[in-house]
Amino acid sequence: MAKPVILTGLRANNDLHIGNYLGALLPLVDMARGKSGEYQVNLFVPDLHSFTTPIDHKELQESIKQNLRVFVAAGLPLDNTDVHIYRQSYIPAHSELTWILDCFTGFGEMSRMTQFKDKTAELRDDRVSVGLFNYPVLMAADILLYGAEYVPVGDDQTQHLEFARDIAERMNKRFGELFVAPKPVKKQHEFFGKDQGLRIRDLQNPAKKMSKSDDTGKGVIFLNDTLEVARKKIMSAETDSMGEVQYDYERRPGVTNLLDILKLLGGTPDQFIGETQYGLLKKAVADKVEEFLRDFQSKLAKVDDAQIQQKIESDEAEMRKIAGEQLLKVQKAVGLRP
Ligand code: TRP
Repeated sequence: MAKPVILTGLRANNDLHIGNYLGALLPLVDMARGKSGEYQVNLFVPDLHSFTTPIDHKELQESIKQNLRVFVAAGLPLDNTDVHIYRQSYIPAHSELTWILDCFTGFGEMSRMTQFKDKTAELRDDRVSVGLFNYPVLMAADILLYGAEYVPVGDDQTQHLEFARDIAERMNKRFGELFVAPKPVKKQHEFFGKDQGLRIRDLQNPAKKMSKSDDTGKGVIFLNDTLEVARKKIMSAETDSMGEVQYDYERRPGVTNLLDILKLLGGTPDQFIGETQYGLLKKAVADKVEEFLRDFQSKLAKVDDAQIQQKIESDEAEMRKIAGEQLLKVQKAVGLRP
């Protein structure tokens, strides 16, 4: 029996920060390590999705590579046969199945997608690509080609996941058992645990989450910050005037954020609870952040590009087979193949 499939896209991002690392990359890498053995884990670079909104195409190859390097430096294993790493565009079945599914997808259905509405709200119609519009159909193809039942995604993607379920069930009703549908969102949360949504806050404005779009960058620790810069950012983090270290997201978001960062980096925040000065806590966090960055940056520098290339090429060949078989089943069902 084939193992049940877990699948997700590795979202590319140029200016990664510790919020992305602790809240998204690390949990994903831990999941891949922890669930392999019992599950097949498909992690892919959604390169076809990368220009649904405009990008600099000259940089795409490099950013795909860098994205993979970062995951490998974060601990994504290249020698685990249950973990498959591949680039979407190297498996043509993704595009081909998308076209077929497009023809069974309603215009109204896509128009109602919240992310589409949000992303296009300020754009003139002629600036909105058709690719952005049917992005969820490509995402459904990504999932359905491999019969993936478990798909860890953020809240912004749950509507797209529901669509993948809908279109799978719609096709199955019409053509017989074609697809394995992904589990409903509630089941996904039960399966992956709810700390998926963990958020590190901005150091200067702890009311909002750490984000690369911060204007000054002072509240954000980037993975490529120098150790001195990162230290300074922690030491000048915004706290409060209550003068006591306590976990309290409502009233002491700055201090609580520091405690969270310390904990996630393997420190011992509890020893600071009740302290009346924030300096010691800040110093402990700065030390941990420095230690983490030094380690991460040295791992990143040592990542072996040739080894990544070998892994993805061999996984892509394997995925072309699996996806190709599923596509053929669909092509037969819709009358494209005898
Ligand atoms: N749309 C996802 C995101 O922005 C990335 C993605 C593309 C994906 N295809 C997928 C995630 C299939 C899960 C399954 O995060």
